[in-house]
Amino acid sequence: MAFRWKNTLKESDVTDEALFLNRRQLMGGAAAGLGLAAAGRAASAEEALTPNSWEDITQYNNFYEFGTGKSDPATYADELTTTPWTVAIDGMVDRPGEYAFEDIMKAMTTEERIYRFRCVEAWSMVIPWNGFELADLLDFAGVQDSAKYVRFETLYRPSEFRGQRSGWIDWPYVEGLRMDEAMHPLTLMATGIYGRDMPNQNGAPIRLVVPWKYGFKSIKSIVRITLTDEEPVNTWQQLQPSEYGFYANVNPEVDHPRWSQATERVIGGGLFSPRIPTLMFNGYEEEVASLYEGMDLTVQF
Ligand code: MTE
Repeated sequence: MAFRWKNTLKESDVTDEALFLNRRQLMGGAAAGLGLAAAGRAASAEEALTPNSWEDITQYNNFYEFGTGKSDPATYADELTTTPWTVAIDGMVDRPGEYAFEDIMKAMTTEERIYRFRCVEAWSMVIPWNGFELADLLDFAGVQDSAKYVRFETLYRPSEFRGQRSGWIDWPYVEGLRMDEAMHPLTLMATGIYGRDMPNQNGAPIRLVVPWKYGFKSIKSIVRITLTDEEPVNTWQQLQPSEYGFYANVNPEVDHPRWSQATERVIGGGLFSPRIPTLMFNGYEEEVASLYEGMDLTVQF
């Protein structure tokens, strides 16, 4: 891999959460140094990124397994139990298995990433995730050459996920990435926020974060990762293929059929919820545009 993305923001940009300000100690000196170097390289994507508050991030959510309202996930989060938790890794891998979450955490090194997060509904936040690169987990499982895509599945447990007791979505929630997207150093398996364990409403104990794609790609509470040679049909594409595609790259020039994607509403911006321009690939153009060279992004949306 050409480079390992270590961090995306300077500590001086952070104004929130005392815990978070201890990041340097948590990371250790050497890692922090690397982080600052990477931050300089990616300056364009990082200008003026101030993370949203813990409250914004954990009280305004989309997690249809708990209901369709923005406050449903926080309201019903306690109904989900996340211990024990296993993640099956199967399909075209050398070391398939049912891995205990604790064993994955022992094998991986977590770090912090401050990323923009842009929902297809045209709202956005900035979130300080903790996690590890999906590439590291895939290396650990040993991806075979025949694998072209990664398919992810959320837990199916209607006894705890009240939203799964109704059938308008063909549960479980499914998402997918092309192999080069999955191996990209920006692609994160997140296990925490602000240095704390992932809250249930945000996708405990482990979720995907793909910062240059609309938020629905960032599937929560993952129990299965399958390496395959077929493009997975993701939940939103299955529900409404004219509105949601497989790629879902943030693109201010390709509108949703029912609304503009040119701007976004900043959550936590106060009474007036300011709108700001949406950036191509959500501000990560320099890092990811080459993945889509030669593709017509108005067709493969
Ligand atoms: N994952 C599952 N399993 N179920 C969902 O309903 N919603 C998606 C995504 N991942 C969703 C999901 C959508 S539409 C968004 S915008 C993000 O989660 C929201 O993540 P957040 O609530 O942590 O901000």
